[in-house]
Amino acid sequence: MSEITANKHINSSSLQEDNDGNSHSVERKESGKVVIQLDKVEREFVVGEEIVHALRGVSFKIYEGEFVTIMGKSGSGKSTLLNQLGCLDTPTKGEYYLDGVSVRTMSKAQRAVLRNRKIGFIFQNYNLLPKTTSVENVELPLMYNTEVTAKERFERAVEALKSVGLGERLYHKSNQMSGGQMQRVAIARALVNNPAVILADEATGNLDTRTSFEILVLFQKLHAEGRTIIFVTHNPDIANYSSRNIQLRDGRVIADDYNHNILSAAEGLAALPKNSDE
Ligand SMILES: Nc1ncnc2c1ncn2[C@@H]1O[C@H](COP(=O)(O)OP(=O)(O)O)[C@@H](O)[C@H]1O
Ligand SMILES: [Mg+2]
Repeated sequence: MSEITANKHINSSSLQEDNDGNSHSVERKESGKVVIQLDKVEREFVVGEEIVHALRGVSFKIYEGEFVTIMGKSGSGKSTLLNQLGCLDTPTKGEYYLDGVSVRTMSKAQRAVLRNRKIGFIFQNYNLLPKTTSVENVELPLMYNTEVTAKERFERAVEALKSVGLGERLYHKSNQMSGGQMQRVAIARALVNNPAVILADEATGNLDTRTSFEILVLFQKLHAEGRTIIFVTHNPDIANYSSRNIQLRDGRVIADDYNHNILSAAEGLAALPKNSDE
C-alpha cells in the first residue's frame, strides 16, 4: 500500500478553527455516544522471573461513528490492546467499558456473549470456515442467537453479502474465491449481527494494492453509513483513510490525532494503473 500517498484527496467536509487557532475537524465527536472507553488500562504478562508490561495505562474514548486506526510498530502492544477491545482478554489494572458495560469483572462466558453481540471481527487471514459457502459463513454469528430464526438468519446473511458487493457469490465456497472476496465475506460476517463496533486486525495485510483499496473503499462506505470501526495496523498509509489515528509505543498512547484530510479510497483506486487482465 505504499503507492497510496500520492493520490488526490477530498477535504474533510468541514473544518473549523477554534479559539487557539488550531483547526479541528468537526468529526471530533465529543458529544456523541461513547462506544468504547478505556481508563488507565494495563496488561502485564509474567514470563519466568520477569514482568512484561504490554500496556502501561492506556486511556481513550471512541465515539459512535468514528473510524479509528490504531497504529504502532511490532511489539508496541497492538495485539494486546485488540484482545482487550475484543473482550478476549481482561486488563491487569484499569477499566474497559464496552457500550457502557465494564468488561473487567465479567466471567469468560459473559464476555463471550458480549463479544458475539457487540463486536464484529475482521482478521488478516479472513478466518472463514473452509469449504463452506459465503451464506453459511456469514450466518455463523447468528447461530448463537436463539432469538433469530433460520429464515431471518438466511435473509440477514444475504443482505449483508449484498451490501459488500457479493450478491452474486452467495453459494461460492471460501476456497473458490479470491482474497478480496474472502475478506468481503468476512466483512459481511462482521456486519450481520449489527455490532456496536467493528474490529479489524490488519484487514488488508494479505491483499495486493488494488484489492486493499477496494477493501478500504468498503470500510469508508461503512464509516459513511455511521458504523464505528477500529482498524489495527502497522501500516501508516491506512491512517490517511480513517477519521482518527491513535499511535502506540511501548504500551502507551503517544499520539491521538483527528484526520483533517481524509483521503478518498475510491479516488485512490481510480488513480491506480489498470491491471493487464482487466
Ligand atoms: N502472552 C504473552 N506473554 C508474554 N508476553 C507477551 C504476551 N503477549 C504479548 N507479550 C509482549 O507484550 C508486548 C506487546 O506485544 P503485542 O501486543 O503482541 O504487540 P504488537 O501486536 O504491537 O506487535 C511485547 O513485548 C510482547 O512480547
Ligand atoms: Mg501483533
